[in-house]
Amino acid sequence: MIDSNTKHKLLSDAPVIAPSMLKCDFGNLHREVELLDAAQAPVLHWDVMDGHFVPNLSYGAMLIERVRPLTKSFFDAHLMISNPEKYVDDYIKAGCDSITVHIEALPEPQGLLDRLQEAGVLPGLAISPQTPLERIEPYLDACGLVLVMSVEPGFGGQSFIETSPERIRQLKSMISPETILSVDGGIDPDTIGAAAQAGANYFVVGSAIFNEPDYATAVSDLAQIARSRTASLT
Ligand code: DX5
Ligand code: ZN
Repeated sequence: MIDSNTKHKLLSDAPVIAPSMLKCDFGNLHREVELLDAAQAPVLHWDVMDGHFVPNLSYGAMLIERVRPLTKSFFDAHLMISNPEKYVDDYIKAGCDSITVHIEALPEPQGLLDRLQEAGVLPGLAISPQTPLERIEPYLDACGLVLVMSVEPGFGGQSFIETSPERIRQLKSMISPETILSVDGGIDPDTIGAAAQAGANYFVVGSAIFNEPDYATAVSDLAQIARSRTASLT
């Protein structure tokens, strides 16, 4: 469970590279976790899909709970599911440190974000590419993390939507500096720089880690590019 310093620790380590477990080799899940530990990825990002909110199915709390004891990494659950309020307790119990729900799935998320905070979990709110940013504005103060989708949610391996940095830039001006600003979808060495320059400090990455032969090199190269573009922020 998250302690009060964990968010600050994550932010002080920014840019954070968060591997998206959707793209890992599930036949060797324990080995994949060990490789990501060795690559010094501080976070595992768990994409939960229900075949209803998005047209794809992945895994749920049961799997996350079994992996929890295998690593000390921060567990970041991204719930792409309908009615997240019905299931969120399962993810808290599974040991997730942060839980992110979609504004499109829960148009009035204040109660749920408060419930997560009370449970000691970092509350997150995600927004899909077509949704106006104004929809999340009333809830930003209740978020520890805001996730900007830079692809349509549902599948890994899609191309980064080119208008995403502008949305990141706008959101950055709407949130507190203490709030983690995450970007998810199509992040690779060619796109991470623009997202970092726009103000993102937490990068979810699937294909650009798991399709590479050496995860440690992939993670450190991505972090290096993000760091160099963050430094140019004024
Ligand atoms: C998409 C997921 C992402 C995705 C990332 O719905 O939220 O986390 O799997 O994978 P890449 O980096 O391949 O886009
Ligand atoms: Zn995700």
